[in-house]
Amino acid sequence: FTIINASYVATAVNANQYPAGELAEIAFIGRSNVGKSSLINSLCRRNGLARTSGTPGKTQTINYFRLAGKLADDSRLEFMLVDLPGYGYAKRAQTARSTWSKFIEEYWLKSSRLKLVCQLIDLRHPPMESDMNVYRWLIEHGLEVQVVATKADKISKSRIRQHIQVIYKDIDMSNLNPAGSILAYSAVSGLGRDELLDVIRNILLK
Ligand code: GTP
Ligand code: MG
Repeated sequence: FTIINASYVATAVNANQYPAGELAEIAFIGRSNVGKSSLINSLCRRNGLARTSGTPGKTQTINYFRLAGKLADDSRLEFMLVDLPGYGYAKRAQTARSTWSKFIEEYWLKSSRLKLVCQLIDLRHPPMESDMNVYRWLIEHGLEVQVVATKADKISKSRIRQHIQVIYKDIDMSNLNPAGSILAYSAVSGLGRDELLDVIRNILLK
C-alpha cells in the first residue's frame, strides 16, 4: 500500500465545518508534543503539510488531509487523515473529559465516518494518567484504537520492546482490547510507517 497523493482539505472547530463527502477518516490523538502532526507528515512524506513545533500546543483545530493510496492490484483508495489538538500537557491527573475541549468530544461523537483512532504515546516514558483515561474513554465509546508509540529513534533499538511492554501493561490493553497491539514509530527514521499503512489499509477494506 503506497501513498501517491496528499493534500490539505479543511480546518474545523465545530461539526458545521467538517468537510462534506464520504471518505473514511483516520484520526490522531495524544498528548501535546507527542508527534501527531509529524506522524501525519511522515505518512504523507510531505514535511510541513501538517504544522509541527517543538513547543506543545501547536495544533489547536481539527485539520483534515486527503490521501490517495495505491493497492497492490493498482486500484486506488482515498481517505482522510485527521490531525487533532493534543491533550493534557499538565502533569496532574486528568479524566478523559477534562483533557480535551468540547469540540474534540463533539468530533468523537459526531464523526460517522471515523474508522480508526491512532492514539500516540511517547515511547520513552510510561503512559500518563491522561493517556490511560483517554484510551479507556475511546474504547468504551466503541471506537477502534491503534496505539502508536512515537519517537522510537530516541531510544536504542534493543530497548524498544521493553518500553512497548510497559505501555501495554499500563494501559491494560489485555482487558479492554484483547486484539490490540502497539506499534513503534519514528517520524525521523520511518520505522513503523509500512506497518501503520497496513493497519490503515486493513481498516479501510474491512
Ligand atoms: P501538538 O500539535 O502541540 O499537540 O503536538 P504534536 O503531537 O502534533 O507534535 P509535533 O508533530 O508538532 O511534534 C512535536 C515535536 O516532536 C517536534 O519538535 C517534532 O520535531 C518532534 N518529533 C515528532 N515526532 C518525532 C520523532 O519520531 N522523532 C523525533 N526525534 N522527534 C519527533
Ligand atoms: Mg500537532
